[in-house]
Amino acid sequence: MTLPVLDDALRARLRDLCAVGWEFFDRFDRTVRERGFHAFVASEYEVVCEALIAHRAPGLRFLELGSASGVITIMADLLGYDAHGIELDHSLVVTAREMARRFESRARFVSGSFFPTGYSYHSAEGEVRTGTIGEGSSGYLELGLALDDFDVVFGYPWGGEEPVLLDLMKHFGNPESLLLMHGVNDGVRGYRGGRLVWGAPLRPR
Ligand SMILES: C[S@@+](CC[C@H](N)C(=O)[O-])C[C@H]1O[C@@H](n2cnc3c(N)ncnc32)[C@H](O)[C@@H]1O
Repeated sequence: MTLPVLDDALRARLRDLCAVGWEFFDRFDRTVRERGFHAFVASEYEVVCEALIAHRAPGLRFLELGSASGVITIMADLLGYDAHGIELDHSLVVTAREMARRFESRARFVSGSFFPTGYSYHSAEGEVRTGTIGEGSSGYLELGLALDDFDVVFGYPWGGEEPVLLDLMKHFGNPESLLLMHGVNDGVRGYRGGRLVWGAPLRPR
């Protein structure tokens, strides 16, 4: 299996995807988020793109936890990952599928929760709340894949919710796989087996 060549044409397609993604998010922010809380805040698409470029290799399976409008998952597909996204808000899944058609992407999207059935979060302090991370029936069944089937997993949790994704990977992920986590206003970090392997340490809150 070979990777798509990262030439000017692919760079231009990725730029178009980011531009369309930002356009959608601006509209979403002005309409849906103006009216009330919604957990969808877009990551820095251009920064995540560089992280995906840095880690791409032939045959890697990619999962986005909370794929919203689909931009990152489609980006991963265009870069040669076998890319999948799970999103709780079905209307965003519909948007992501439309976006995938527009960019002739084979990225797959399913509605549901990225928490596997039976998972519950318990922090070291006994905390069980997951903040803005919602609950619903698990999306893995429809995907036909489990969390530990993925080589690269991406998520953008709200500030302070990073331990939930690390805990999820610890209990259900493959210890060899890479968790790429976007931090609020400070780029992307990579974790393997719970250890930081790429990017600057998380700033204390
Ligand atoms: C901060 S946004 C990040 C969106 C996108 N990943 C990005 O980087 O632009 C988090 C997204 O996760 C979704 N979400 C929250 N909890 C979820 C869950 N348990 N399962 C699936 N999606 C979830 C929200 O609806 C929202 O779209």
